[in-house]
Amino acid sequence: MRDLTTTSVTEAVLTQMGQTPDPRLKQVMGSLVRHLHDFARDVNLTPDEWLQAIGFLTQVGQTCTPTRQEFILLSDILGISALVNLLHDKTAVEIGTESSLLGPFYQQDAPALALGDSIAAHSAGPELLVYGQVTDKSGKPLAHASVQVWQTDADGAYDVQKFDGTQMDMRGNFACDADGRFHFRTLRPLGYSIPLDGPVGTLVRAQGRHGCRPAHIHFLIGAEGYRELVTALYLGDDKYVDSDTVFGVSTPLVITPRDVDPDAPVKGLPSVRYDFRLGIAAGGETGRVGADPAQILAKV
Ligand code: BEZ
Ligand code: FE
Repeated sequence: MRDLTTTSVTEAVLTQMGQTPDPRLKQVMGSLVRHLHDFARDVNLTPDEWLQAIGFLTQVGQTCTPTRQEFILLSDILGISALVNLLHDKTAVEIGTESSLLGPFYQQDAPALALGDSIAAHSAGPELLVYGQVTDKSGKPLAHASVQVWQTDADGAYDVQKFDGTQMDMRGNFACDADGRFHFRTLRPLGYSIPLDGPVGTLVRAQGRHGCRPAHIHFLIGAEGYRELVTALYLGDDKYVDSDTVFGVSTPLVITPRDVDPDAPVKGLPSVRYDFRLGIAAGGETGRVGADPAQILAKV
């Protein structure tokens, strides 16, 4: 392990890590080292650039708070969250509705609301009715499935951004009825810029990217024995629907509200009907990529 060259250094590291008892840790770290070394050789990385990268990652960590997870944001803008989601979807025993990013604004313990309630407690704007049914893959209703919802207000802001974590708004937890049906009132969400005031924003701007997400409503849907579904519905007329900064949009998740819908359980509001399908669970799994930031820090 002396007299290393720009190529033999990789083998030296892999040899030293070769005794790792945990086989998965050995595989993951081995691959990471190989790819990182290839990357450094590929771009001919300079000491200054490497120090700059270390400074950047230090800032990313220092920007994290109980309500802000800058590392998740970094993973999102690099497409890693979307990729891990896609890889996770491939492991499903049964494919249900497409998944999408959880994002950094999910909060546990949102208020439990009754079917038909509005999730807008402290915000105003154009209203929207969202309704549908939660079923299994074959269309069998999943009685009393849980539907957690969160979104921005009509100005494109999440409650944690507006109220600094002191007040919840534009989020709620619903229990479907015995036929797996749900409906709730909300405000038409607005697309928004991901938080750009930290190191991730500096990178996004340096890359000439707009940093925006199309308007969407997040859902986390669960039923006993079924794979938890983390997804979102995207408004098709948003100008960023085909250039989402965090790569969360897929065609089946794009919606267009209807002004008149004879089937809507509440009349007089633009409405969206969306039926969610859950695949059966493989056991102990979670579909979440990203998490409640407070929970991540709580585990540290
Ligand atoms: C969100 O949809 O809430 C989100 C996802 C990734 C980055 C920022 C926001
Ligand atoms: Fe969002």
